[in-house]
Amino acid sequence: MNIKKTLTTALLLLLLASSGCAYRHYLGMHGPSITNSPDIHLDAKNDEQCLQCHNPATPTDAPPTNHPRFKGCLKCHGGAVE
Ligand code: HEC
Ligand code: HEC
Repeated sequence: MNIKKTLTTALLLLLLASSGCAYRHYLGMHGPSITNSPDIHLDAKNDEQCLQCHNPATPTDAPPTNHPRFKGCLKCHGGAVE
């Protein structure tokens, strides 16, 4: 009864933990869209430009990306701007 409950909780937590974080990138999930801040991203058309602001190796005001080696930023972050 109580042991069963504990086991179920542990299993659920394990499932949640193992399906999170980095794996999301590879499941074709879309990232936050740059259309949330269109004025900043109006001129950004290619990966090189994105990384001028978002490369963690050369920090700016922009939030650094944890995946600077990905190609085709706009495939995941493009929203309506293609
Ligand atoms: C395969 C899809 C994919 C590609 C390609 C991709 N990203 Fe992402 N990105 C994501 C997802 C999903 C998140 C949100 C989850 C996270 O932060 O790990 C994210 C998060 C981010 C964030 C963090 C936003 C915040 O609010 O902190 C930045 C910045 C970013 N990406 C920039 C880039 C840049 C620049 C490129 C190209 C070099 C790129 N991404 C390529 C999927 C992608
Ligand atoms: C001129 C610098 C600059 C360039 C170029 C740029 N960004 Fe950004 N980006 C920013 C800033 C600053 C923010 C933070 C905006 C905010 O907090 O409202 C941001 C925010 C983001 C976010 C987070 C959006 C959110 O709502 O969480 C993502 C994702 C992102 N940029 C991706 C990209 C991609 C992909 C490119 C290339 C197509 C790119 N950026 C080009 C400066 C830039």
